[in-house]
Amino acid sequence: MRFDLDKIDTAVAYKLMAATVVPRPIGWVTTLDREGRINAAPYSFFNVMGTEPPVVALGILGDAQRGFKDSARNILDTGEFVVNLVPEALAPQMNVTAVDAPPGVDELELAGLTPALSAHVKPPRIAESPVSFECVNHSTVVTGPHQALVVGRVLAIHIADAFVKDAARGHVDTPGLNLVGRGFGATYIRSQDTFEMPRPTWATFKRSS
Ligand SMILES: Cc1cc2nc3c(=O)[nH]c(=O)nc-3n(C[C@H](O)[C@H](O)[C@H](O)COP(=O)(O)O)c2cc1C
Repeated sequence: MRFDLDKIDTAVAYKLMAATVVPRPIGWVTTLDREGRINAAPYSFFNVMGTEPPVVALGILGDAQRGFKDSARNILDTGEFVVNLVPEALAPQMNVTAVDAPPGVDELELAGLTPALSAHVKPPRIAESPVSFECVNHSTVVTGPHQALVVGRVLAIHIADAFVKDAARGHVDTPGLNLVGRGFGATYIRSQDTFEMPRPTWATFKRSS
């Protein structure tokens, strides 16, 4: 079946995309508004998009009532944000921060989470999260009414010591992080069910054929 997206309801189009592009990592974004008030919310339209320079991207949809969501508004206003990652143990708190609270509400406080000082940007990290990326706005494309694609340049990555296996080589205990991703609707995906598949090189590919 083919779905032509300009002929169907936008809510249906959202479901088609969000139910097929899975699993998606969750970027748990902390920002400050112009008055310096903390905001936190999860975004699963999120990924690493480059390494030289290191960049991440966030897809922030428009909100029918509020226009720009608070995270988008704050990034546009201040140019800074932190992306924290979500282990399974923090999934319930992450979900609390997705609440459609009015601007100015500190969702970290609502979820009983602790802000921790960042080194390069004003928005705090989430102390309980094992991984945080400090970011400045590299460029933001407003892709629709109040919808934004935010590209952030990563200035620093914090990883809890317990999960750093070899700092010089950049080896991390990824299974130990036990991060969750988003599936379809309210379904989440654990990162435990993995399999290994070494990547072929052209040299070995030619030899075996
Ligand atoms: C796991 C999860 C992932 C989400 N991903 C997105 C997303 O990628 N884009 C988006 O616009 N909203 C997403 N949301 C909804 C926002 O978190 C929600 O609208 C939130 O209220 C936005 O908060 P803010 O206005 O403080 O930025 C997601 C919600 C959950 C629970």
